[in-house]
Amino acid sequence: MADLARFGVSVEKELLTKFDKHIKDKNYPTRSKAIGDLIRESLVKKEWIEGKEVVGAITLVYNHHRRELVNKLTDVEHDFHRLIISSQHIHLDEDNCLEIVVVKGKPREVDELAYSLKSTKGVKHGSLTMATTGKEIA
Ligand code: NI
Repeated sequence: MADLARFGVSVEKELLTKFDKHIKDKNYPTRSKAIGDLIRESLVKKEWIEGKEVVGAITLVYNHHRRELVNKLTDVEHDFHRLIISSQHIHLDEDNCLEIVVVKGKPREVDELAYSLKSTKGVKHGSLTMATTGKEIA
């Protein structure tokens, strides 16, 4: 476990009350854990803004009966194959597929890939979860 540091924080009472209610609703074990997670979240955002190497997960939902759509998605994934670590395809029902594409690379390229996939005509849902390689986060 990393060394711990204690520090005092002054915030408006009302803000802290709201925060404590929020973390209680989310079942956070302690306020320290919740604040630590907020700090890590902002450090991950910083990695994306600064163009560090990042990882992410692109989630897509689409109807596989639309063959031109499936071909287009495959073309895009091949164009960006250097960024793709793995992808998982789940048949949700007779019509719908869920695809999770795990990516690693520069934020600009990852964004471009995510946008190209989710903007493909016929994609019902597309989202990018921004994560971190974890190398620079304690
Ligand atoms: Ni499928």
